[in-house]
Amino acid sequence: MSTLAPLLTSRWGDPQSWTLAAYREAGGYQALAKAFEMEPAAVLNAVKDSGLRGRGGAGFPTGVKWSFLPPPDGGPRYLVVNADESEPGTCKDIPLMMADPHSLIEGVIITSYAIGCHHAFIYLRGEVVHVYRRLLHAVSEARAAGLLGDGVMGTDFKLELTVHAGAGAYICGEETALLDSLEGRRGQPRLKPPFPAVAGLYARPTVVNNVESIASVPWIVANGADWWKSMGTEKSTGVAIYSLSGHVKRPGQYEAPLGITMRRLLELAGGIRDGHELKFWMPGGSSTPMFTAEQLDVPLDYDSVAAAGSMLGTRALQCFDDTVCVVRAVSRWMDFYAHESCGKCTPCREGTFWLRAVLRRIEAGQGKMDDLQILEDIPGSIVGRAFCPLGDGAPSSLTSSLKFFRDEYVQHIDQGRCPYDHTASYLFEAVAA
Ligand SMILES: Cc1cc2nc3c(=O)[nH]c(=O)nc-3n(C[C@H](O)[C@H](O)[C@H](O)COP(=O)(O)O)c2cc1C
Ligand code: SF4
Repeated sequence: MSTLAPLLTSRWGDPQSWTLAAYREAGGYQALAKAFEMEPAAVLNAVKDSGLRGRGGAGFPTGVKWSFLPPPDGGPRYLVVNADESEPGTCKDIPLMMADPHSLIEGVIITSYAIGCHHAFIYLRGEVVHVYRRLLHAVSEARAAGLLGDGVMGTDFKLELTVHAGAGAYICGEETALLDSLEGRRGQPRLKPPFPAVAGLYARPTVVNNVESIASVPWIVANGADWWKSMGTEKSTGVAIYSLSGHVKRPGQYEAPLGITMRRLLELAGGIRDGHELKFWMPGGSSTPMFTAEQLDVPLDYDSVAAAGSMLGTRALQCFDDTVCVVRAVSRWMDFYAHESCGKCTPCREGTFWLRAVLRRIEAGQGKMDDLQILEDIPGSIVGRAFCPLGDGAPSSLTSSLKFFRDEYVQHIDQGRCPYDHTASYLFEAVAA
């Protein structure tokens, strides 16, 4: 029994899938033609009725977000696609843009039409130069074909689309830091309210949506809200891309209705590599609390994962087997958060610095029992006190690892060394091969 439902990923294997010709051959831009036969408000309502929830992490209903824009006042309003994708483990938007950039562009045009935007932006993570080139090429193809510019598809609708490459900072994925960066300033989160819907890019009404959210829009417009709602669960409708990485036999993108379990996804991915067992996994990226084998049957939808004590986040399912030292994994993640903390607020700037220092000490076998109390206390000074969700998410892996694997921290301190033989780890094997 297959539980996969490839939609957004369905064209990725097609020859020359990134070209306009291949996209059209596979039915591309027909949803746009249909959208132009509808009133903009009807397109917005279709997305609202579908129940589509944002795929960038927070799961906010997409159509509801669009409806927060104030009524048109004659001035510009913007759509900004968040293609920063820098959370460790998250790796779905980059392959989508690489393999099927026109699906995103079609989603951008339909969304812009629905919200009355005439200049849209795609803010791309700076390091992925190959994706940047591919997007630029797809945009120029679309412009040459009359899908962008004045009179899109022969209508009187105008749309410019700018692809902007950032400079590689995780915080620029936070929507307001992204807007500051796009305006040419240092990317740091803004105080909210005002929310971007009211005062976003250049202080004008702005919708910020994730790549996968926007690429889902043509499917909804083409097939209708009821069709989308017939997949997934009541409150987490439709399909989504699950990215399996780490110690699975067949890592990759698995697109399935929301609510599929990790047990089923692991079966589809061939299971954990031979001779080993699953030790822990991250359901939604490194900012979400970890799970163990006990949570394999939790439906992977927004509410069920939250009820089980974590977050669905970006569905970046990182799998770690029994060769992995949890202290080491958490320590690497804390290196990342301490490095990526933008420094604007004290709880996150100082808290991640000290957590990193204490974790490194324990990892190196120089920890003291009192350090465990410090690791338990500092997150309480960050979570709920930080200026933006980067701080709230930074200690998630640590706090959950202390819940499931406290003994392993104690072992490091008692033995004065890491009890794991790192030479047998996945990374070293990969290098040796
Ligand atoms: C530190 C941080 C990094 C983020 N990175 C991304 C990202 O790379 N892509 C993304 O779509 N959302 C990211 N988000 C979430 C965005 O702030 C925002 O919620 C999202 O772009 C909204 O799109 P959606 O409603 O379609 O999910 C990040 C949030 C934080 C706090
Ligand atoms: S929580 Fe961290 S990343 Fe967010 S504003 Fe504060 S210092 Fe910057």
